[in-house]
Amino acid sequence: MTTSHTPILPAKVGKEQIPLVYKSKAAVYDYWGRLTESKAQARCLELAHIQNGEAVLEVAVGTGLTFQRILQQNPHGRNEGLDLTEAMLDKARQKAAAAGTTNYRLQVGDAYALDFADATFDLLVNNYMFDLLPEEHFGQVLAEFNRVLKPGGRLVLVNMAKGERWYSQIWDAIYRVQPAAMGGCRGVALLPYVQAAGFGQTQRYYLSQMTFPSEIIYGVKK
Ligand SMILES: C[S@@+](CC[C@H](N)C(=O)[O-])C[C@H]1O[C@@H](n2cnc3c(N)ncnc32)[C@H](O)[C@@H]1O
Repeated sequence: MTTSHTPILPAKVGKEQIPLVYKSKAAVYDYWGRLTESKAQARCLELAHIQNGEAVLEVAVGTGLTFQRILQQNPHGRNEGLDLTEAMLDKARQKAAAAGTTNYRLQVGDAYALDFADATFDLLVNNYMFDLLPEEHFGQVLAEFNRVLKPGGRLVLVNMAKGERWYSQIWDAIYRVQPAAMGGCRGVALLPYVQAAGFGQTQRYYLSQMTFPSEIIYGVKK
């Protein structure tokens, strides 16, 4: 699928390597996230428009920077979070314990095969994960997200984007020579895939923070 003027670079960190790569990043990830990703994550939650009491799933919670805020906004709802990397989940559990509700579960899980019934969730949030995945897997994972959302359920994705200014392209340049330094993340362009997966009312926003480019994608399950 043609997704942008510049092609998406190949994924270089395989799924089997991800827990090891992110185990080494768990202790410092929050510094990176607060410096370069916090604005996009805040925009994600604005778009998500959580109503307290909803069923919410966050896939790839990482250290729980967004999951913590989901819990603050949805203390009476059902909150499920999963990640492939136990070391990242440990950090997420520490934040969740301070969020003021016990209505949540955090567990190891895989975005490719979600352990939930069809049409379970009102909202699915997934931040900075597709930028790790092979482009040829985007459709498969989005189909899985679609499956667990209720009709009318909302999807909000945040990812590293392809830089729209020259100074934001430095990050893909670093990835080319040292993919693990970028946690395996490179710029992606998800909107055509989200539309092809059958989501409607799609919106895309681009922003850069400390030169780091992100896109925020919104869609609704038809
Ligand atoms: C760049 S971090 C982002 C963490 C968090 N979403 C955030 O925005 O701070 C990527 C996370 O995706 C997780 N991940 C990668 N592939 C995954 C998969 N197939 N299923 C679940 N989690 C995955 C990694 O373990 C890692 O915690």
